[in-house]
Amino acid sequence: MNTSKGLVIAISNQKGGVGKTTTAINLATALAACGEKVLVVDFDPQGNATTGLGVDKVNHSDNVYALLMGDCPAERAVHKTLVPGLDIIPSTVHLSGAEIELVPAFSREFKLRESLESIRSQYDYIFIDCPPSLGLLTVNALAAADKYLVPLQAEFFALEGISQLIKTVQLVKGRLNKNISCMGVLMTMVDGRNNLSRQVEDEVRSFFGAEVFNTVIPRNVRVSEAPSHGRPVILYDTFCAGSRAYMSLAAEVLRGPAHVSSTINQGVAA
Ligand SMILES: Nc1ncnc2c1ncn2[C@@H]1O[C@H](COP(=O)(O)OP(=O)(O)OP(=O)(O)O)[C@@H](O)[C@H]1O
Ligand SMILES: [Mg+2]
Repeated sequence: MNTSKGLVIAISNQKGGVGKTTTAINLATALAACGEKVLVVDFDPQGNATTGLGVDKVNHSDNVYALLMGDCPAERAVHKTLVPGLDIIPSTVHLSGAEIELVPAFSREFKLRESLESIRSQYDYIFIDCPPSLGLLTVNALAAADKYLVPLQAEFFALEGISQLIKTVQLVKGRLNKNISCMGVLMTMVDGRNNLSRQVEDEVRSFFGAEVFNTVIPRNVRVSEAPSHGRPVILYDTFCAGSRAYMSLAAEVLRGPAHVSSTINQGVAA
């Protein structure tokens, strides 16, 4: 039985190119394939989640920017994807102006939370794909979220900057959203044959302990090819290593929060 009705998860790491969008697209697809009703909110002006899910980001005026600015109700901002059970609120480059436009707005940190309220109960999972920064967009995502998921790329500088992310979550927890907690840390682009990749994984596991998902996402060329076809990798090549890893991650998420007790959550105790 699913007990996570309308669970909002911010996928966040201010470091660029660590697999946030790839995880948003493919974890969402894998959960939808398991029969869950899932929404991806593309909260990055780059619009990569929108393109990667085969949705045209130019021709949709009903998008996350219009939603945030109060120009479009959430019901209209939601678009279907080619994955049954998976919807998206697409992004647009205009979202990059939102950080400045929102500064003078009343309760500016809660715009996304308020905007999603009316549709939240229609979904089992809502993933917010954050931009690679810790600005007002990411703060809005964290203020709207029940959980946050941190992808870490298995490379030498994986943990660099993680303390800023923890600090930002701490601030959000203290001032805006006391209930937010860590869903898990996900190792991405892991190359099992590479010593460095294994060392980084060991280091991350000893730092975060049980918070790290058992599943690791391998570096897999099919994962990187899929977005240019506007498809999640699970539709592009269902049985490749990347697809199997994201299915395994979905199973771990569905099994529930066995690993949410340690470092990050203690670090963000209010
Ligand atoms: N498991 C993987 N195997 C191979 N390539 C991958 C994998 N995961 C992600 N990539 C590739 O790495 C690049 C960065 O991934 P992605 O766009 O998901 O990162 P991001 O954190 O969302 O980036 P940004 O910070 O720019 O939003 C993309 O080209 C993507 O296709
Ligand atoms: Mg991205």
